[in-house]
Amino acid sequence: MATESVRMPLLLALETSCDETAAAVIDQDRHVLSNIVATQHTLHERFGGVVPEIASRAHVERVLPVVDEALQQAGTTLGELSAIAVATQPGLVGSLLVGLTAAKSLAWALDIPLLAVNHVAAHLYACRLAAGAEAFPCVGFVVSGGHTHLYDCRSPVEFDLLGATIDDAAGEAFDKVGQILGLDYPGGPLIEALARKGDPHAVSLPRSFLHDPQLKFSFSGLKTAVLYAARGTPGSRDAPIPLTDQRRADIAASFQEAAIDILIRKCAQALVQTARTTVCVGGGVAANTAFRTALQDMCALRGVRLIIAPREFCTDNAAMGAIGWELFERGMFAPLDVDVTPGLMR
Ligand code: KG4
Ligand code: ZN
Repeated sequence: MATESVRMPLLLALETSCDETAAAVIDQDRHVLSNIVATQHTLHERFGGVVPEIASRAHVERVLPVVDEALQQAGTTLGELSAIAVATQPGLVGSLLVGLTAAKSLAWALDIPLLAVNHVAAHLYACRLAAGAEAFPCVGFVVSGGHTHLYDCRSPVEFDLLGATIDDAAGEAFDKVGQILGLDYPGGPLIEALARKGDPHAVSLPRSFLHDPQLKFSFSGLKTAVLYAARGTPGSRDAPIPLTDQRRADIAASFQEAAIDILIRKCAQALVQTARTTVCVGGGVAANTAFRTALQDMCALRGVRLIIAPREFCTDNAAMGAIGWELFERGMFAPLDVDVTPGLMR
């Protein structure tokens, strides 16, 4: 007698919080069956950053084709889904609304539960996908274009903020330094490539709050110092050093080293403060190889277990919406009139 294979329940996750339109299908064992990301980088490139109105309109055009592709790649159909997860906070209000409206419509039409995902918690949950086992409790470190935030995570859905940036996020600083050095948007990966050709000790740059006991970050002073290194200090009698290719690479390498120094120091401080023995790191900047290596060194020295999100799950994606299963299993369903919360969670 032929046995019919029983399929695991399936979750469709949507992510439209900023400038990626993404959909993924994840089974209840947290296997990612498809992970489709339509990036808008080329639309925003000439503005040097994300233009919210352009982002919202692009999400409207792309969200349904991206959902179709995710279902197709997973070899499933809408009728086979058990729940819909969607990022509802934080992010750009117009962008979040597109994903939420699509998710609500699907959940209502299919009569299945809607799950409201916190995008920052999802970035950390990408580590749970990588570890293939329980990654919590842990110190959670989200380092992205919108966040430089340290959390004490008791579980995937229970966390307290330990500290955050008081101005720019680390990724934002990479992007702005990229702009100063004449690189395209987003600057992060391009700074990383340029830094490989430079000397990280060539330019002396400030590191804010490095020896401060508080878990605070600030990148604006570093950014200004990079601007002066590239264009000369206002009011200085010295002529600026010519911005040759080598000088640009040296500035990129020195900036990257300073930014990573700050991130590593504060992460280590959070581990001491909480006495946690695991740290999970996610967000776009966690794709940076020099940062990953520095994290590994710091954690090896302290005997701490390090889980970094796999590179493909560092920048915005919907696979990390697998956190929806944690909400589902706890019965934390969202009502169909749930709204977006654009602001950062505290
Ligand atoms: O997580 P993400 O896709 O979006 C937010 O939630 O913000 O992060 C995007 C940020 C951008 O600022 C980008 O420049 C940065 O992550 N990023 C990197 C690298 N790849 C992406 N920064 C440094 N090195 C990288 N390799
Ligand atoms: Zn993100």
